[in-house]
Amino acid sequence: MEKFNLEYYQKSADYILKHITERPKIAIILGSALGGVAERVENKITISYKDIPNMLRSTAPAHKGEYVFGNIGQQSVMIASGRFHHYEGYSYEQLAGPIRIMKLLGVKALIVTNAAGAVNLDYSVGDIMLIEDHIKLNGYSPMRGPNIDEFGPRFFDCTYIYKPQLLDLARSRAKALNLEDILQQGVYYFCPGPNFETPAEIRAIRILGGDAVGMSTVTETLTAAHCGIDVLGLSMITNMAAGVTADLQSGQDVIDTGKKTAGIVADFICDIVEHLEK
Ligand code: HPA
Repeated sequence: MEKFNLEYYQKSADYILKHITERPKIAIILGSALGGVAERVENKITISYKDIPNMLRSTAPAHKGEYVFGNIGQQSVMIASGRFHHYEGYSYEQLAGPIRIMKLLGVKALIVTNAAGAVNLDYSVGDIMLIEDHIKLNGYSPMRGPNIDEFGPRFFDCTYIYKPQLLDLARSRAKALNLEDILQQGVYYFCPGPNFETPAEIRAIRILGGDAVGMSTVTETLTAAHCGIDVLGLSMITNMAAGVTADLQSGQDVIDTGKKTAGIVADFICDIVEHLEK
């Protein structure tokens, strides 16, 4: 197994720094079907994951596998077009890597997006859920193993893991954009996949307090919390979770339905980015 230490991640960051002109302040990780956000970036510099030393490779469908650096409005951003999941075979420790590279590049705020199934029966397909909190009761932490003190302390707080100020900003921008009808706020429940959940698991998740369920995001958020990057999380509700209707779950349906709302979500994200403090 690789030896994860500061030098390991610095090697990736140094390669990227040689190819960009401005350090990014905001990072956006694109979930399934959200690739369109990258098209809104100006002054683009694209770096393929496969060219970056010590970087993971994207294998999930509808995930491209490149960073796009540039500007949205006045902001300097980096977009991760293609993210990594535990179900691809990566360990939780490996999933910390891309976030630690962002930290070394100077990122202060991270917007994580995903496609998710609705557990909350008041939600509808096409809704956008602001992630107020998450539940991850399976598997261990991405911060397991020797602590890298340069990133953060051994034990770290998760009380305000989704930054309240960013949630407030997202709420007020949703109002300004007339998105309130489709805006939900709730708890993201992490299930590692790649299987969709069983109806009994979804009923259990509902009792435990989950509003939406998905296979990503949480390891990234935990890593960001450890190294002091502020997080805003958005779930695009692409399906009702297993057992809510008689429909079967399908990855292709998630992508197809996601594409229908992706434009609205992309506008919302760009608007939030432009209204973040410079
Ligand atoms: N379950 C898990 N992950 C998902 C779902 C779901 O229903 N929809 C989109 N990603």
